Amino acid sequence: MPVDRHLPDFPWDTLAQAKAVANSHPDGIVDLSVGTPVDPTPQVVRDALITAADAPGYPQVWGTPDLREAISAWFARRRNAAGVDPDGVMPTIGSKELVAWLPTILGLGPGDAVGFPEIAYPTYDVGARIAGATPVPAQSTVQFGPRAPKLLWLNTPGNPHGQVLPIDHLAKVVRWARERGVIVASDECYAELDWRDGVDDLTTPSILDERVCGGDHTGLLSVYSMSKQSNMAGYRAAFVAGDPALVKRLVDFRKHAGMMAPWPVQRALLAAVQDDEHVAIQKERYRSRRNTLLGALRESGWRTDHSEAGLYLWATKGQPCRTTVDELAGKGILVAPGDFYGAAASAHVRVALTAPDERIEQAAARLTAD
Ligand SMILES: Cc1ncc(COP(=O)(O)O)c(C=O)c1O
Repeated sequence: MPVDRHLPDFPWDTLAQAKAVANSHPDGIVDLSVGTPVDPTPQVVRDALITAADAPGYPQVWGTPDLREAISAWFARRRNAAGVDPDGVMPTIGSKELVAWLPTILGLGPGDAVGFPEIAYPTYDVGARIAGATPVPAQSTVQFGPRAPKLLWLNTPGNPHGQVLPIDHLAKVVRWARERGVIVASDECYAELDWRDGVDDLTTPSILDERVCGGDHTGLLSVYSMSKQSNMAGYRAAFVAGDPALVKRLVDFRKHAGMMAPWPVQRALLAAVQDDEHVAIQKERYRSRRNTLLGALRESGWRTDHSEAGLYLWATKGQPCRTTVDELAGKGILVAPGDFYGAAASAHVRVALTAPDERIEQAAARLTAD
């Protein structure tokens, strides 16, 4: 069976009608449906890209030692994860491709299960399908019963709902996985955008955090992206880190398949991962937009759940999500319906913080207008 026969329809296609309605608003659409950054790529990143523009030779699939060491240093500095072996680090071409191909690259196929959260970014499911494996959405590890998956995806902070998985939860999952030989891949691309007050952590806890795994990265992968925190979605700059033996399998496969991050992008990634200042500046932009939207949603009678980190507010009016999408489209605001992320999410909508300040102010004014 050709691979596309296994794949669901691309969900955004179903928003075309609502988008047309929102577009017809006299003051223009406020598009909060997609988490695509809108602020400028930081100068430090652009400079690094330009400096590396002369790139006649092939780049390394594994990434250069200085890049892998800088990523290891970032884990120690920002994620409470000292001891990430630079041999267990590899740049990826954005993280979506890794999410989509990881089960295939790990050799999973028919008869193997791939677990992921019940309400989740759709690509975990897609990756299982591409491999011909069985996608198993599950709210907790108990749901797997005696049939543990070969690969378990975690996503913290979670897209779409912004839930942060606490250290003790992550530690429990790691113990459970180790007893069963399950590989755990934790997708953590919003970790620098954590809004919780009163916690000592700089960022959302990582699967590689010493308090989670005791410094032993066997069977664990952290998947990370520069797209959101560094306004680099157009660069396709991301990385995976953790168990060196697993990363070697990825590198070996990707060499054969030509899956390598371009050289100028690897240099831009290096600059980004060494510079915390631009991330702090970007975080403040999102904090301000979040406060504006959260205030407007609350004032107009909405409830938000989780939303403690990441780029989205997970909002509900206690009615079917498509009704809410249509109502908001009538106000010229486009949001993503919860059903994009699983049947269990059909009463929520995902409201992205990724719009210019002026559009966010417009959205807040339209939400509170009646
Ligand atoms: C949870 C999650 N993982 C991965 C990605 C992909 O990020 P990128 O491919 O830009 O690195 C996204 C993007 O929205 C996401 O929300």
